Amino acid sequence: MTSQVDLPVSRLRVLVTDNLSQRGVDFLRQTPGFDVVVQNKPTPEALKDLCREMDALIVRSATRVTADLLASAPRLKVVGRAGVGVDNVDLEAATARGVVVMNTPGGNTISAAEHTVSMLLSLAKHIPQATASMKGGKWEKGKFLSVELSGKTLGIIGLGRIGSEVAKRAKAFNLRVLAYDPFISAEAAQALGVELVELTELYRQADFITIHTPLTAETKNLISAATIAQMKDGVRIVNCARGGVVNEADLYAALTSGKVAGAALDVFAQEPTTDSPLFSLPNFISTPHLGAASEEAQEAVAVEVAHQVVDYLQKGIIRNAVNAPSIPLEMLRTLQPYLTLGEKLGRLASQLCEGRLAEIHLEYRGEIASLDCVPLTVATVKGILDPIHDSVNMVNALAIAKGRGIRLIESKSTEATDFASLITVALKTDRGKTETAGTLFSRQDPRVVDIDGFRLEAVLDGYMLVFSNLDVPGVIGRMGTLLGQNNVNIAGMQLGRERRGGRAVSIVNVDDPIPASVLDEIRRMPNIVYAKLVRI
Ligand code: NAD
Ligand code: MLT
Repeated sequence: MTSQVDLPVSRLRVLVTDNLSQRGVDFLRQTPGFDVVVQNKPTPEALKDLCREMDALIVRSATRVTADLLASAPRLKVVGRAGVGVDNVDLEAATARGVVVMNTPGGNTISAAEHTVSMLLSLAKHIPQATASMKGGKWEKGKFLSVELSGKTLGIIGLGRIGSEVAKRAKAFNLRVLAYDPFISAEAAQALGVELVELTELYRQADFITIHTPLTAETKNLISAATIAQMKDGVRIVNCARGGVVNEADLYAALTSGKVAGAALDVFAQEPTTDSPLFSLPNFISTPHLGAASEEAQEAVAVEVAHQVVDYLQKGIIRNAVNAPSIPLEMLRTLQPYLTLGEKLGRLASQLCEGRLAEIHLEYRGEIASLDCVPLTVATVKGILDPIHDSVNMVNALAIAKGRGIRLIESKSTEATDFASLITVALKTDRGKTETAGTLFSRQDPRVVDIDGFRLEAVLDGYMLVFSNLDVPGVIGRMGTLLGQNNVNIAGMQLGRERRGGRAVSIVNVDDPIPASVLDEIRRMPNIVYAKLVRI
């Protein structure tokens, strides 16, 4: 299988693997500026070769996006997963490399819920076994005695999107529905007509149990010999969530002993699975990970992921990212100017401070404090790290800060200040503290309004000469003359001082970079405390 594709350089390149539904591919192909390569099920080597040139990779569940693959894809900015589970993507490696990983929650919810209910009914009514028997030329009417769902208790573990849809459908079968989900409120469960209970209670009462959690350290082997022992004798178990949540060896033992009357798995610890002791059991039924394999779901997730990837590459809009803050479009319109302000303020603070960065304290005051400040924090930290770290972005900024042992503190207050909204960035290093505060003028225009307690109002853009001096006559004049003599054009100037004759801090916005020799000369001028050239 060839993996060499000649593509023009300046266009955005997307590799699609895993038989993405055609409508998703068509959308990508019709998007101006995009080149699309479709390579279904490439070998790992071919995949690596192809990814070297790609800006985006779109996969379903088969392609394994490993640390090794990511390391050989220097241009890669985004991995789109058409589906929910991202266990085929090395998230830690993607985050470290600043690659956004997006999934498409919701696109296959209904299909997965319908599949779960089908499994539940098939389990109760022995439909797969009866079909196989008839196809084997038998008429075994007495063998397949079923049970009714009506009046029984269903226990749902994980009451998220799919769990909730299963609950709604279960009500139609007159099932009493219990659920365990530590992250869902009792009110949300109540609105679905579901009783939220502890896990032990769910095990004690449920006739049927269905799991709809992700696979996490906590849910791995959730259904094991120990937990099965807490369940009712004759319980029936369905797992259409993730393989590994049910311990298959323990399930086999419980199905053999009759403790568990029947089980249905759509997902397995190892996939594909073509051989399992479970397949020999008459009270076990299965499907090969078909929960989302409907025409509608596949089309929905393909179109969704294609739109998300294009939006990210073209406009920087992050939706449904699992390793970066997602910002809904309406929110982005409000937040974008603040994201720019935070990033610029971060860049300024970072270039003003001296020494090894130990702590970042971000304070949001006024109107901004009532918005979701998580993306703002990420943008500001990105700005702080930008001057000191290669290739930092919205995905890896917090991880890089954490990796460097930098403490991050955030505080919020909706109380009014002199400005509608104010962001303060305080940086602590082994050599001291630097504090800058900024706001938006006319809701669009980022300004720095405070440096280390000195009030001023300067445009946050381009080259900025920031200096502190003793407030005596002549300093500003000499500075202007020196810059003029060296052909540095002044675009704006702001001064803040503590009192007449005390210390002052000034910002000179300049159109051109100031040569290092001129900067040295400034630092040697009388009454100058410090001078720094900052690039925003
Ligand atoms: P979701 O995020 O909407 O819901 C998951 C729920 O699990 C959340 O409410 C969360 O609070 C809960 N949860 C997390 N840890 C828990 C724990 N330890 N105990 C109890 N609850 C816990 O996700 P979803 O879209 O409903 O998907 C659920 C699962 O189904 C995922 O694993 C997903 O990958 C899988 N899935 C499978 C198929 C398939 O083809 N079989 C299709 C789609 C999704
Ligand atoms: C999902 O996580 O979306 C489902 O398991 C379906 C799939 O893997 O494609």
